[in-house]
Amino acid sequence: MTAPDVEAAPQPLVDVDQDRYARFRTSFEAVTDFGRLLLAGRLAAAGVLPAVGTPAGRDEILARLAMVGGYQRLGEALLDLLERADLLRRDGDRLAVTRRVAEAAGLAGDDAVEAAASALRRAHPEAAGYVPLLVACQTQLVEVVRGDRPANEVLFPGGSAELVSAIYRDNVQLDFYNRLCAAAAQQHVRQFLRRYPRSFAQVMEVGAGTGGTTGPVLDALTERAERLRYFYTDVGPGFLRLGRQRFGADRSHVDFARYNVEGAPEDQGFEPGSMDVVLASNVLHATLRISAALRHCHSLLKPGGILVVNEMTSRLDYNTLTFGLAEGWWRHADDEPRVPASPLLDVAGWRAALDRAGFVDVRAHAVPGLDDGEQVQTMFVATATGASGSSR
Ligand SMILES: C[S@@+](CC[C@H](N)C(=O)[O-])C[C@H]1O[C@@H](n2cnc3c(N)ncnc32)[C@H](O)[C@@H]1O
Repeated sequence: MTAPDVEAAPQPLVDVDQDRYARFRTSFEAVTDFGRLLLAGRLAAAGVLPAVGTPAGRDEILARLAMVGGYQRLGEALLDLLERADLLRRDGDRLAVTRRVAEAAGLAGDDAVEAAASALRRAHPEAAGYVPLLVACQTQLVEVVRGDRPANEVLFPGGSAELVSAIYRDNVQLDFYNRLCAAAAQQHVRQFLRRYPRSFAQVMEVGAGTGGTTGPVLDALTERAERLRYFYTDVGPGFLRLGRQRFGADRSHVDFARYNVEGAPEDQGFEPGSMDVVLASNVLHATLRISAALRHCHSLLKPGGILVVNEMTSRLDYNTLTFGLAEGWWRHADDEPRVPASPLLDVAGWRAALDRAGFVDVRAHAVPGLDDGEQVQTMFVATATGASGSSR
């Protein structure tokens, strides 16, 4: 046995084109603002927002929205969003529409929305992939929250993941974080195989979904494919079919299996202490109890194995306006300090949760050159200790 390599994770693991990133941020904000206007336009057209000059109480506005159970948190978050966007303003203990709502009135019809969306995509090609999902969600929001249309029909029309997967690829921010995940996994697998050249490295991805992160990670690991097993897992069988189509051919080192990170690995056919890397990209926030999900990830890992967590760490209105339609976005039921009006944890929250789950040497990576307050996403690399305890 050779001595372990002592390679500190280089900081940053990968670089980002700062100019491109700045353009992306400007474009993303323009797209989000379009979504805020669309929301105001649709709610005004549905008679939910107060008429000009007649402020209404929060409860009254929410009652007019007539949401079915499960969407109460979304309703509160939408009012909060409209207030921050200066589309609603406080008037005593009530809310009044502002003059900005008139801008939204022009977006009442589908043709007007389509024309405005096309113009937006042309003006902001860096964030164009975010537009179709936003339009689909905001034009159908009222029906969804009233229970007249299932959210999945909007997010995955005809069972297609195209709308959602468009936002998980081909933009500078996601590319950067996907490359970070790939670099972290590659670094650990290299070290492991250098140390144990006759072994197989085992990597498990939980919530692999449409495979937005999987692609870059598998590419980075191809160099050691003959000494690697990669488990592409998700709770949804549809995502496993998608994964097989995308990554199944010509990759005998990739297995596809259902795994729900809310449950213990041993109950679902996975051996505790068997993985070198567990990767969870944009999935753990969706679980009922983050502490349980982290415990299960810890239990999957060998001592010294790493968990790579890629998560949004501050609330974005874009997500409230899109993923907020999925009841799952609001289903969390734990005491973790979620960022208000979202299921997310901030950087300190993740550090504390990883620490409590028994991980050590937690490193957080984000876009170089930005202040902490400007970061929206963080990739954490955390090392599992020997004492994982019960995973239940
Ligand atoms: C927002 S998508 C992210 C997909 C992918 N990781 C990416 O970054 O491109 C979240 C994924 O997590 C999966 N998911 C949600 N809850 C889960 C759970 N309890 N266990 C495993 N996967 C889950 C969903 O089915 C979905 O595919």
